[in-house]
Amino acid sequence: MCKPPQKKTIEIAYSEYSGIDHLPADLQQLLTLAYKETHNAYALYSKFQVGAALRLSDGAVIPGSNQENASYPAGLCAERVALFSAAGSHPGKTIEWLAVTAKNKTNSVVDPVFPCGFCLQVMVEMERKQNRPIQLIIGQPDTRVLVFDSSYQLLPFAFNADQL
Ligand code: THU
Repeated sequence: MCKPPQKKTIEIAYSEYSGIDHLPADLQQLLTLAYKETHNAYALYSKFQVGAALRLSDGAVIPGSNQENASYPAGLCAERVALFSAAGSHPGKTIEWLAVTAKNKTNSVVDPVFPCGFCLQVMVEMERKQNRPIQLIIGQPDTRVLVFDSSYQLLPFAFNADQL
């Protein structure tokens, strides 16, 4: 008889805030900037505007917004626009925080909009590279904001270079 599989569970740790006012002041600032960035999104096709803002350990803040294209897969998410911009313009600097928020046509997004799998894959590799966690602030300023102390909380079984 074969052994039954072992059922395992993992926990996802995060803090939940009911709106931006309850966040520490510096994180409020970063999420507010991410929200402003939604206006720079080029979301002609989805009409879904995502804004991101990340903060480096030296205090520099780098924005990002989703940039779409008529050839749909050529577009890029807000998170990766900000992450790659940071890597390209501030090489070697540690990313401490990344805030993400979004806006749709009817302004009716109330729940946090989570980074897609591609963006998480990029975040976890950047975490490994910098040997420091990237903390995430994900949510809608007026309703729900979740804070994670590492992108691994959202992609615990991440693929990594050791497996190549
Ligand atoms: N998008 C992001 O920018 N970030 C996410 O976390 C999810 C999705 C963008 C991609 C596309 O431009 C639009 O939202 C709809 O998928």
